[in-house]
Amino acid sequence: MLDGTFSLTDHDGNAVTQASYRGRFMLIYFGFTHCRKVCPRSLACMTAALDALGDAAGRIVPLYITVDPERDTPEVMKSFLEENFPRFTGLTGSREAIDRAKASFRVFTRKGPDPEDAEGYAVPHTAFAYLLGPDGTYLTHFMDTADPAKMAGGLRDMLAKSAATA
Ligand code: NI
Repeated sequence: MLDGTFSLTDHDGNAVTQASYRGRFMLIYFGFTHCRKVCPRSLACMTAALDALGDAAGRIVPLYITVDPERDTPEVMKSFLEENFPRFTGLTGSREAIDRAKASFRVFTRKGPDPEDAEGYAVPHTAFAYLLGPDGTYLTHFMDTADPAKMAGGLRDMLAKSAATA
């Protein structure tokens, strides 16, 4: 079981934790805005899965936590997400706060050279999507973040389960 906790800054500059979204599910993905393939594919998959849920998607807050806070300031994350994946709110913070969030979700990264940008770097990362419940507790994670229909099905199941026990 993951702790699933974080204490970060959202892309509008507000201090947030998992408790800030109480009452709604949280769909959380870790990545970085310079990511060329994995993040765009996963963020597109999650967007399509949420689209497929229709109104029920309103019960879920999609969050994108950076593993590259040195480049991903709130402003950078906001403009990247508003332009490309507007359902998502970006979260960033100090290196220490990001490292604590990563440890809490057992997210791993390994910073290395970016083959397409000699001046830059890449941060390959765990590509799971984590689901926290309306009370902020960790519920499950999706290992496959490239299949929107499968993810939509999984999310629907979790929403139905929660409605049944509420
Ligand atoms: Ni990525």
